[in-house]
Amino acid sequence: MYSEKVMDHFTNPRNVGEIENASGVGTVGNAKCGDIMRIYLDIDEAGIINDVKFKTFGCGAAVATSSMATELVKGKNINEALKITNKAVMDALDGLPPVKVHCSLLAEEAIHAALWDYAEKHGIVIDGLEKPK
Ligand code: FES
Ligand code: FES
Repeated sequence: MYSEKVMDHFTNPRNVGEIENASGVGTVGNAKCGDIMRIYLDIDEAGIINDVKFKTFGCGAAVATSSMATELVKGKNINEALKITNKAVMDALDGLPPVKVHCSLLAEEAIHAALWDYAEKHGIVIDGLEKPK
């Protein structure tokens, strides 16, 4: 049912934890199941995401997608990070079962919420970023 990559990122998730004084923090909940994810971004003056950590209170697929999403955004600039969709995260994990696709949305939404928080704190506007619900 789950790919080897999903199992790997579930049993050995990357970038778990929190960042003190993070540049941006995003917390989102999944309306469908009630699971929660929080992502912390450390963004430098050049707009590069130097560090990222996450905490997920949720299912295995949510943990695996959070882990992969953090790996994908690390080292990227803001605009590149914005383009990392849940589809890209799922592809990087070699897919998810159809009933678990909604879990991958948490990671994308949490990244967007953290970027929004960063933009608000720094008084900037990020093109193409919508206010989180
Ligand atoms: Fe979240 Fe299944 S509903 S763990
Ligand atoms: Fe809730 Fe996966 S079942 S995020």
